[in-house]
Amino acid sequence: MPIVTYIDSSGAARSVDAAPGATVMEAAVRHAIPEILGDCGGACACATCHVYVDEEWIDAVGEPEPMEEDMLDFALDVRPTSRLSCQIRITPALDGLVVHTPVRQA
Ligand code: FES
Repeated sequence: MPIVTYIDSSGAARSVDAAPGATVMEAAVRHAIPEILGDCGGACACATCHVYVDEEWIDAVGEPEPMEEDMLDFALDVRPTSRLSCQIRITPALDGLVVHTPVRQA
């Protein structure tokens, strides 16, 4: 199963098994990763699943769709590597993915 590592704002890393087909947000919530809330359940309607994709993984993860870009306007401290983790679906190609979580969500 692909492994996803979440690094929180204090630098603590947590690696979890993430089922292919699930999203990075769903894997985080399932494993009680702090700093990812996922309030809307993955409908791209809350921006409480904001993460920063590690620079090494930007190309593999790809670009956000326009709807996600619009919702990212509601996230705090948006950066070029910002994504909504409910819009990143786990595939075998993302095995080893690293994302950083913000100090707080919107
Ligand atoms: Fe609401 Fe991602 S969980 S936008």
